[in-house]
Amino acid sequence: MSNTPALDRWKAQLSAWAIPDEIRKQAPAFPWRLDPELFRPLPGTGEGSLATRRAREALADGAVVLDVGCGGGAASLALADRAGSVIGADESAEMLELYTAEATSRDLEVITVPGRWPDSQASSELRADVVVCHHVAYNVAALDEFARALDRATKPGGRVVMELTLHHPQTVNAPLWQHFWNIERPTGPSAEDAHAALIEAGINATFEIGEAGQLRRESPSETRAAGAARMLCLGPDRVQEVDAQIRSLPARSTERAVIWWDTATQSA
Ligand SMILES: C[S@@+](CC[C@H](N)C(=O)[O-])C[C@H]1O[C@@H](n2cnc3c(N)ncnc32)[C@H](O)[C@@H]1O
Repeated sequence: MSNTPALDRWKAQLSAWAIPDEIRKQAPAFPWRLDPELFRPLPGTGEGSLATRRAREALADGAVVLDVGCGGGAASLALADRAGSVIGADESAEMLELYTAEATSRDLEVITVPGRWPDSQASSELRADVVVCHHVAYNVAALDEFARALDRATKPGGRVVMELTLHHPQTVNAPLWQHFWNIERPTGPSAEDAHAALIEAGINATFEIGEAGQLRRESPSETRAAGAARMLCLGPDRVQEVDAQIRSLPARSTERAVIWWDTATQSA
């Protein structure tokens, strides 16, 4: 019997998302590529976002913010008015290019950490006052190692803030899989499952649910439909059809889970 039941459950639920082989082999493009256009941050200070509020509480003027899985920087650049410098870590070179441009346009000093977290952290000495990590956890099977590396990258007495959708972000697309391929998709894992895995890993994290606020720009519907078609292993000739199906989906929840913890202060 395993002594990490919550983590095992998390991993099993994530692996159930593998696209069936007979569909995957028809994919004209890599289904999981994310278009940076979908991740452009909004200017502004993240009003209405619980995750931003939790990060701001721990952020002194001029502090260093690390954004893991930064994309275009929605999580950290909402803190641009307070931060002195930002560090963006992402496995996608395209996302880091966008992040650098967005941070520079806000007059921030920026450093990038390319590669997959936590491997990218192992070779880095970088430490931040606040570490933010939005919408990455469902991409990570070894959530325990991932989160411990977030903790190590935070200065003593700093804060880690993760934001997640309440359930795996692809669950909202279940009707699309049903329509185009006549298959059922999994319904988990949930943010509560993520929290349980972190508690089990010895991280004393708080779990809250609050509003997402507006951190990213609204992307054009054609861009969203093209991304969804790719994810569904369909070619560009099906994008209009995918767009029509997306329009018939129920409205998405504006609630997000926020999982955060303060790192231990150094003993004197
Ligand atoms: C859904 S996007 C979210 C981007 C941004 N945090 C936001 O909320 O707009 C996930 C991002 O995390 C990156 N990513 C996923 N897993 C990663 C990992 N293990 N290490 C580094 N980057 C990762 C992807 O390349 C992508 O840019």
